[in-house]
Amino acid sequence: MDFKEKIRVIEDFPQPGIRFKDITTLLKDGKAFRAAIDEMAEQLKDKEVDLIVGPEARGFVVGTPLAYALGVGFIPVRKAGKLPAETVETAYSLEYGKDKLAIHKDAIQPGQRVLIVDDLLATGGTVNATLNLVRQLKAEVAGAAFVIELTYLNGREKLPDLDIFTLVQY
Ligand code: PRP
Repeated sequence: MDFKEKIRVIEDFPQPGIRFKDITTLLKDGKAFRAAIDEMAEQLKDKEVDLIVGPEARGFVVGTPLAYALGVGFIPVRKAGKLPAETVETAYSLEYGKDKLAIHKDAIQPGQRVLIVDDLLATGGTVNATLNLVRQLKAEVAGAAFVIELTYLNGREKLPDLDIFTLVQY
């Protein structure tokens, strides 16, 4: 399936010059959504991960069905202050300013194999912060997977040690 055909590009959002990749048009097409998750599951099944870790909010939308398809658990990474039990946190840079991401301290046992999943790899800041969190918990990182990669932002180059899978590239 041509997944790019299902992803809508919005010009000048959220600011002039940005061509926003909108996955809501892929998500609302049941056949395309299932095909995208099935394709990712097929490509990633040999990694034999124990858990999928997904950052909010769009990382939940891709990460949870993929976890279901692979038959593994899902661990949410949230903005600091949202998770109810004890957490570890990490600061990271956004396009404007800084924020903090958090994960439950007891979410991952040392040595468990995790796959980080999100909708989009842009600058790599979010996946890098997520990596930082799972490493604090001594997880073994099997890699990261995204629906979309914006190759012109060179996120991959900042993560030379990470095995990265992306379904479509711009
Ligand atoms: C978007 C996207 C990724 C991240 C990618 O999330 O869903 O998580 O940006 O960009 P990066 O590689 O430059 O870090 P956003 O921060 O907009 O949050 P949202 O999913 O809650 O909308």
